[in-house]
Amino acid sequence: MLTVAVLISGTGSNLRALLDAAAEPGFPARVVVVGADRQADGFAHAEAFGIPTVMVPFREFETREQWGEELRRQIDVWTPDLIVLSGLMRLLPDALVDAWAPALINTHPAYLPEFPGAHGVRDALAAGVSQTGASVIVVDTGVDSGPILAQERIDVLPGDTEHTLHERIKPVERRLLIEVVRGIAAGEIDLSAYAPAIPSADVAEATETPDAAAVASDIA
Ligand code: GAR
Repeated sequence: MLTVAVLISGTGSNLRALLDAAAEPGFPARVVVVGADRQADGFAHAEAFGIPTVMVPFREFETREQWGEELRRQIDVWTPDLIVLSGLMRLLPDALVDAWAPALINTHPAYLPEFPGAHGVRDALAAGVSQTGASVIVVDTGVDSGPILAQERIDVLPGDTEHTLHERIKPVERRLLIEVVRGIAAGEIDLSAYAPAIPSADVAEATETPDAAAVASDIA
């Protein structure tokens, strides 16, 4: 049985879908802890399933690195096999990505690499595209730049608002997330194939990534 930690910031509707799926007989994964960077509404879903929650308030730490160290300490207590970022609106510090990758995945409401960052839905609408999508990726130290595990296209309809479009994307995200978690648990997706070859600290020395800072500007 694959054990999963889920990190959220908001309503946790994708978390809820994963909890519902994991409660089905035969589902090969179970959520062992839900964490957040704030008092997230989505904790209610964890509590409904009797799953422990940990809250590590980002704003109470002087640096992202210190917050990341405490988040790691509190999540690692539960020794999860997989960590799912499901609407966590904070960038993890590189040291934490290095510690958890490649068993660290993220859902995103766009067809990556299109529209990364905090406003994937809004940015797609602003760009006037006729299709956007949903993606599940392995997290790397960039912003929504890791290897893609699953993705699907979704039409943008005339009159769509950020809300209506996001509400059509979310059910697809949920389905993809559940498929990916099931695939990892069943051994059909081998995350070890995505292990970073070089620690991010060494990569940072060798490469400049100015664009990452630009797209990340709203994921505080
Ligand atoms: C989801 O659409 C998720 O992909 C997105 O936040 C939403 C969370 O919804 N995450 C990002 O945009 C991260 N860049 P939820 O809290 O209802 O599950």
